[in-house]
Amino acid sequence: MADPSHLLAERVRAGLGAAFGAELADADPAIRPSQFADYQVNAALALAKRLGRPPREVAAALLAQLQLDDVCASVEVSGPGFLNLTLRDEWLGGQVEGLLADDRLGVAREERQVIPIDYSAPNVAKEMHVGHLRTTVVGDALARTLEHLGHDVIRQNHIGDWGTPFGMLIEHLLEVGEGSKEAGLLRSDPNAFYQAARAKFDGSADFATRSRARVVALQAGDPDTRRLWRELIALSTAYFNSIYEQLDVTLTDDDLAGESTYNDELAGICDDLERRGIAVVDEGALCVFLEGYTGREGKPVPLIIRKSDGGYGYGTTDLATIRHRVRELHADRILYVIGAPQHLHLQMVYATARKAGWLPDTVEPVHVQIGNVLGSDGKILKTRSGAPIRLRALLDEAVERATAVVDQARSDLDGDTRAQIAHQVGIGAVKYADLSVAHDSEYVFDFDRMLALQGNTGPYLQYAAARVRSIFRKAGAEPASATGPVVIRHEAEHTLALRLLGFGRVVAQVGDALEPHRLCTYLFELAQSFMAFYEHCPVLGAEDPVVRASRLALSAATLRVLVQGLDLLGVQAPDQM
Ligand code: ARG
Repeated sequence: MADPSHLLAERVRAGLGAAFGAELADADPAIRPSQFADYQVNAALALAKRLGRPPREVAAALLAQLQLDDVCASVEVSGPGFLNLTLRDEWLGGQVEGLLADDRLGVAREERQVIPIDYSAPNVAKEMHVGHLRTTVVGDALARTLEHLGHDVIRQNHIGDWGTPFGMLIEHLLEVGEGSKEAGLLRSDPNAFYQAARAKFDGSADFATRSRARVVALQAGDPDTRRLWRELIALSTAYFNSIYEQLDVTLTDDDLAGESTYNDELAGICDDLERRGIAVVDEGALCVFLEGYTGREGKPVPLIIRKSDGGYGYGTTDLATIRHRVRELHADRILYVIGAPQHLHLQMVYATARKAGWLPDTVEPVHVQIGNVLGSDGKILKTRSGAPIRLRALLDEAVERATAVVDQARSDLDGDTRAQIAHQVGIGAVKYADLSVAHDSEYVFDFDRMLALQGNTGPYLQYAAARVRSIFRKAGAEPASATGPVVIRHEAEHTLALRLLGFGRVVAQVGDALEPHRLCTYLFELAQSFMAFYEHCPVLGAEDPVVRASRLALSAATLRVLVQGLDLLGVQAPDQM
């Protein structure tokens, strides 16, 4: 049930061959959806130069050889040499019937690749912030989509679970007591715990000394210290998991692969690189200098893999992640869903790994760059007092706002049902707002806009899906029973059918370009086409039973594509709204 443009491209290539000789049969047919017809073929414009003939003449010659009668109702030369194609209603109807019979809704399975995805990566004993929201939501949408396309996705939650602050955190945990209320803050308000530890560290020389000794004990593997450290991690991951659950994110404890996972490999990585001359000691630090990476005044920028105090940094752990993901996980593609400012760092890590032979040419690392989330003042989102926004507070507010709307609009429903809908709408709105802009651009976090029932928002799409469900509720029928036949007569039906057939293609594009916002745009346009159809084409009110059955089938197909598309994004579709 492929997108029609595949079939059309095939036919146009055959036409090109017939009109201009076999060597042109592989020319780019340049088919695009068009506002003037269903599709426009632009091939003639590019070929005109090559053939030394006026483009309109080339278009006419191609047209004469095209065999599209079974698929197209009309094919016309237009403008400077375009061909406008309009599909046959009967053909479209048959395709939608095929879509309804296809449990993959036109999404082809791709050749299986192993794809580790590094995403979310919050830090132990720290609050998750909006930056983490975005890598979590985008990473999860990519994981879901690539999995659906048939790939073997390996989620890698690279949590920050190692480093010098653990000395003071462990000392603080010891002082407050492991089962204490203060320790419990790690699960509910981790920043409060962190700040209390920090305050002691800054205020007491004795505490600071003990903290430093604690880091040494941690690194040396002292069993008691390690146990306390694991306790910190367990409390923190309980907090992360509660956020993941609220967000309906697929990450679990099985996906944890924190920084500390690679501890035992770091010294070996450094020695190996130094021995092979890939890394050199510069001002006491072990550095990799790479061609083409220069800063101001042409000074080479190093990737530091061992600091002058002997400590390791992100450069070393990230090298270890690549080596592990290639060697042990057998990755074909590795995604790093990480903030855009890390781009240079990652490029240097990739280049170093290539040089070291840990990243073969056959494996492609991709940085899925995450842009900032801004407040209405255009600066990084903060609270009014300037503190970083707590993700929990943000999500709770989204649900609260949705609750107010649902409680008012659907006072006929019981409290539990309303609460469930409000949760789906509030969280869906936040996630969708995040996903609907290109992941590498910034966006302004705006509750009013993301919760609006109009425009390219989560609630608009959820509403469209709920609308279809209510049609079926009224009809007393199950969507699964609406299988057609699909007879297309109205323009709005034609447009809707055409959109429905585009689902497989857009999902493949998302997996290829790693851009979930394309799926958002598609679903938004689909929902708009459905709303136009619904306005012009009575479904249950259709007198002709054939028309009614057809419109029910179109509605059912819309519902399935909307629900499946939203699911790939990680957004739930409420049964009613
Ligand atoms: N924990 C880091 C942070 O919160 C992000 C780590 C990103 N992942 C990685 N492989 N470097 O900023």
